Amino acid sequence: MSHMPFPNVITIDGPAASGKSSVARLVAARRSAIYVNTGNMYRAMTWAVIAAGADPADAEAVRQAAAELKLESPVVEGRTQVSVNGRVLDDAELNSDPVNRAVSLVARVPEVRERLVAEQRALADLGPLVMEGRDIGSVVFPDSATKFYIDASEEVRAARRRAQGHQDQVAERDRLDSTRKTSPLVVPEGAIVIDNSHLTLDQAVQAVLDRLP
Ligand code: DC
Repeated sequence: MSHMPFPNVITIDGPAASGKSSVARLVAARRSAIYVNTGNMYRAMTWAVIAAGADPADAEAVRQAAAELKLESPVVEGRTQVSVNGRVLDDAELNSDPVNRAVSLVARVPEVRERLVAEQRALADLGPLVMEGRDIGSVVFPDSATKFYIDASEEVRAARRRAQGHQDQVAERDRLDSTRKTSPLVVPEGAIVIDNSHLTLDQAVQAVLDRLP
């Protein structure tokens, strides 16, 4: 076994609805890497906190509810799923309006982050990864040599979210995600920034592939 600290992880960070999930999924397929959407882990935690009847705005209640949950991220067909207490959550559950509204509140709780970051780091034992989120290049795998930050204008991002059929206040989520104390959204040191406001999906994927060794 290799003892390199963070072997072979391509990190992709960026704000809500920047297109990073689509780019990350296609880059992972092209590189035969496992695709990991860490936003879905925070979403699953949020879904379960709400289901447990806890107030997402109450950090102590979130901490307690989260401590009771078993969260797993099995790899199925080259990508991670998320399950809570053995139940795999589907896209509709992960992207429901209540989850969209509450996820940034749950994601700011340090104990929630610690636990999910440990889970994310452990995935690197399974093979090469393309992992996307908010703090992957800055906190989860800061030693990665292949970091990207995918951005798009606020108008383009809001339009993309609407086109996906979601009522989602992306500007408010970004404000919370960028200003929280623990692991805020930043451009990680050494990251290549790609603004895809005016790129097609194929062009954005190619822009990442062109920069890989
Ligand atoms: O990628 P997404 O929009 O589905 O992420 C949902 C929320 O989860 C995002 O608004 C903040 C949180 N998140 C986080 O705090 N850290 C990550 N690495 C990924 C997501």
